[in-house]
Amino acid sequence: MPTTATMATRTDALRMDDPTWWRQASVYQIYPRSFADSNGDGMGDINGITAKVPYLRELGIDAVWLSPFYPSALADGGYDVDDYRNVDPRLGTLEDFDAMAKALHDAGIKLIVDIVPNHSSDRHEWFREALAAPRGSAARDRYVFRDGLGENGELPPSDWVSVFGGPAWERITEPDGTPGQWYMHIFAKEQPDFNWDNREVREDFLSTLRFWSDRGVDGFRIDVAHALTKNLEETLPTTADLEAQGEALYLEGRHPYWDRDEVHEIYAEWRRLFNEYTPPRTAVAEAWVHADRRARYASPEGLGQAFNFDLLQADFDAAQFRTIITKNLAEAEASGASSTWVFSNHDVVRHATRYGLPASEDSAEGIMAGQAGKQWLLAGGRQEDVDVELGLRRARAASLLMFALPGSAYLYQGEELGLQEVGCEIPDSERQDPAFFRNKGVDIGRDGCRVPLPWTSGGASFGFGAGASHLPQPAWFTGSSVEAQEGQVGSTLSLYRRAMALRSQLQTAEALEWLDTGRDDVVAFRRPNGWTSVTNFGTEAFELPAGEVLVSSSPLEAGSLPGAATAWLR
Ligand code: NOJ
Repeated sequence: MPTTATMATRTDALRMDDPTWWRQASVYQIYPRSFADSNGDGMGDINGITAKVPYLRELGIDAVWLSPFYPSALADGGYDVDDYRNVDPRLGTLEDFDAMAKALHDAGIKLIVDIVPNHSSDRHEWFREALAAPRGSAARDRYVFRDGLGENGELPPSDWVSVFGGPAWERITEPDGTPGQWYMHIFAKEQPDFNWDNREVREDFLSTLRFWSDRGVDGFRIDVAHALTKNLEETLPTTADLEAQGEALYLEGRHPYWDRDEVHEIYAEWRRLFNEYTPPRTAVAEAWVHADRRARYASPEGLGQAFNFDLLQADFDAAQFRTIITKNLAEAEASGASSTWVFSNHDVVRHATRYGLPASEDSAEGIMAGQAGKQWLLAGGRQEDVDVELGLRRARAASLLMFALPGSAYLYQGEELGLQEVGCEIPDSERQDPAFFRNKGVDIGRDGCRVPLPWTSGGASFGFGAGASHLPQPAWFTGSSVEAQEGQVGSTLSLYRRAMALRSQLQTAEALEWLDTGRDDVVAFRRPNGWTSVTNFGTEAFELPAGEVLVSSSPLEAGSLPGAATAWLR
């Protein structure tokens, strides 16, 4: 049995130094608390990841993106960071982190870590200092503090609503015990926003980026990259004022805190730092901005790449896919970046479930879990209406199509097992997401895609760890486990492994050429090296053109591609 270290090939060794490695990479997102638990405390950890490096290696991915693993009270699943330059003791130590990075690198896998620059946690040393310091002090200036409105400052500075529901301002008690100023939090109240006009804040993040870069981290995923800079003039506009301005507010970069032009000065400074390293450190922006403004985040002078969530928000529909792919490839070319593709992550309902729901009126609203009346909703539909088989079939077809596209493919842990979203199986008493608590009765939250992975078909927490798991796993996980799918022809795990292995041989940066299939519901494109991908979005079988079939997401029917399936030919 080769060790992880000896498994790395010469090709890997060459790629590790390649400054363009990220352009066509397959990146696997790990939500560390739910991946693998090495010490049986119910929470996934760093050593758990290290132990699974052979699995990641066999999956054939190029890089791992690690969601936050920093010390945190977990008010928002770790996106509330207490200390940006440390590891949560429940997850391990810095030495464990170094060992994990080494194991990944030895296996030819790059490491991207999540950076959360818009807000810290309210337990961060700086925030505690700010609370203890007086109004107008340097300590308060690192965050966004303002006096309240009303006679005694008893009203929040504006009526803005936080992303997780409820007010975006929280009032503090001053050190002398009197009711005091308010601080802004776009997310939960445990996540105070930093003031990015403050030079100390900027310097501190440069130190953090250097800290991880020096430790061998290859790149960064930037959390809410479009929120950092703010325009908080004397009189803040009301929500109604903002709404009245419509799309122009966003297109012209005039929103007080979303996607302001000044944010790019920050990323230009970060880029200079990234380029001091060999190979340069990479970055990908999580920026939910108007599609016309996304390229700014992906420019070579900025972060270099930005997530494109367009396919994630689309229906399983040939015309929508084709339009989105064409537009994004053109956009990436114009900005000098490479395109990114993603169907699932830790914030949205898993795509195997989304695609199993009856068509929704508004697909953009339909990526989150929610609630209407007394009914929990997954991506706009009822859990009992999910056609599990159809959802999985379509998810496999969509993912295989994605792997054939030029650009980077971002995968979320568990999608290679075809996992469905866990819905009402999680009792309210065990939910963790602040979106559930702050939005009671409206939002079921994001816990359903964060349930720990099933590694074995039975046993304690399906092989996740030696004990229970921090979120309950449903009984149906047994058939989706790695053990159940390992070596099984036709399993989703086998499909992903085959697709990834082929992709690493066939993938090039060159553009694709659309092929005329004679059908509106069948999409096909050829890559310059003679590799063709065909997806049948419809229900009627499609006769494939001549060629060797390399892989298909569902078995062919007498040489034809059945509905909701993708095949690659050469
Ligand atoms: C985006 C992250 O993906 C999400 O999980 C988090 O809740 C918010 N940013 C706030 O950090």
